[in-house]
Amino acid sequence: MSKAEIGLIGLGTMGASLALNIAEKGFAIAVWNRTAETTHAFHAAAQGAPFADRITPAETLEAFVAAIARPRAIILMVPAGPVVDEQIKRLTPLLEPGDLIIDAGNANFHDTDRRAADAAKGGPRFLGIGVSGGEEGARHGPSIMGGGEKADWDRVSHILEAIAAKYEGTPCATYMGPGGAGHFVKAVHNGIEYADMQMIAEVYGVMRDGLGMTAGEIADVFRRWNRGPLQSYLIEISGEVAAATDPIGGGAMLDAILDRAGQKGTGRWTAIEAQHLAAPITVIEAAVAARNISARLPERKEGQAAFGAAPQRTDAFGIDTLEQALICGKILCYAQGFAMIGAAAKAFDWPLPLPEIARVWREGCIIRSAMLNDMAEALSGAPDRNLMLAPAFADRLKATHGALRQAVAAAAMNGLPMPALSAGLAYFDMMRTERSTANLIQGQRDFFGAHGFDRLDGADSHHGPWGSHG
Ligand code: 6PG
Repeated sequence: MSKAEIGLIGLGTMGASLALNIAEKGFAIAVWNRTAETTHAFHAAAQGAPFADRITPAETLEAFVAAIARPRAIILMVPAGPVVDEQIKRLTPLLEPGDLIIDAGNANFHDTDRRAADAAKGGPRFLGIGVSGGEEGARHGPSIMGGGEKADWDRVSHILEAIAAKYEGTPCATYMGPGGAGHFVKAVHNGIEYADMQMIAEVYGVMRDGLGMTAGEIADVFRRWNRGPLQSYLIEISGEVAAATDPIGGGAMLDAILDRAGQKGTGRWTAIEAQHLAAPITVIEAAVAARNISARLPERKEGQAAFGAAPQRTDAFGIDTLEQALICGKILCYAQGFAMIGAAAKAFDWPLPLPEIARVWREGCIIRSAMLNDMAEALSGAPDRNLMLAPAFADRLKATHGALRQAVAAAAMNGLPMPALSAGLAYFDMMRTERSTANLIQGQRDFFGAHGFDRLDGADSHHGPWGSHG
């Protein structure tokens, strides 16, 4: 029997979908799962498919490895963290020089860097690939962000490109750079995902609590927005979520969902890394914090009892203003995200291809949107320039920042929380202020710590006259 071209370990939702996608695209694949029942169930379910004969289920890890053609390529789709290390440890003695392990989970890029370093010291070859698009993406075309040795990427890129989403025929699968570069880009993707979701939730809050709209009316607004500049997967699914009926209570599904957001940590990693890089991603940080605040339900309840709920109901918002505000916030958020990637490229000496990153995000991934194509073009001209300053986006910001200000101001006056959109507005205002207030910060630092400052006039005096007060 001929050997499989690739193997996959981990037949959970994402792994199973990816395995079917690989087989469907014409590649023979061996699969193995820690629990044999899962492998059997997967294999049985795949039987009706026309590509079922390309799938070889294995009972043992040894049989799995033996079923793959040399040099082997093995995808891991297992929970991020120690499980990946454990799996690598179990696989390594069974592998031969040149065999390649591909971690396709949501790994912390520092772990991927470490695993890539182990590979360089003589372990199995190692690639860390960020895969976005959820179950549907894994099954029919995800966006793939690769990291590791370029030669290893080149060995399997024909498979990854075949299974990836296509934007006008171009595969959304790209090599990002060495070590953890692919997982780093995926983390920033997820940070932006959190921010996009939060900003949409903020305007949802205005429509629900400020304007008193029903979920059905809000669904109609999202559907309309999805035909305009905000066209995106997240706006589309927000419309679908708002339109759905609760099969139990019969009302709007959205109204029956507990307002406590979960998270697996990728947004948090992005925020932490941004601090290390001194890269301001205030919109993403606000979105992570908003999820954390959402989880504090009992405290919020106490807060409402102590301070009373804010008035909230208002007619100060036009739906068009909200749409413009969201466009503005989205541009500012992406400007921050791409600038963070640029900062990482410099700090880690990675050749992160900013325009290519915008391109692989155009299809397949959770943040796919019409605007990403324009971003790819804007970044192609000048990848180091803040996206805010790219003419096409500067024009859009000029046209929409008034609406963002109106929305944030009206929200503040009516007690409607808008942490991410406000953070975007503050960033915009700070980034267009040549003379900031950091002169006072410098004065304070010099006063209490003699840290010194530069003078505007360039004079050679770097301390204030505070003398012994310091
Ligand atoms: C994607 C998603 C995917 C997953 C997130 C959810 O790009 O396909 O980002 O990776 O849905 O891990 O993250 P949270 O549980 O943190 O919201």
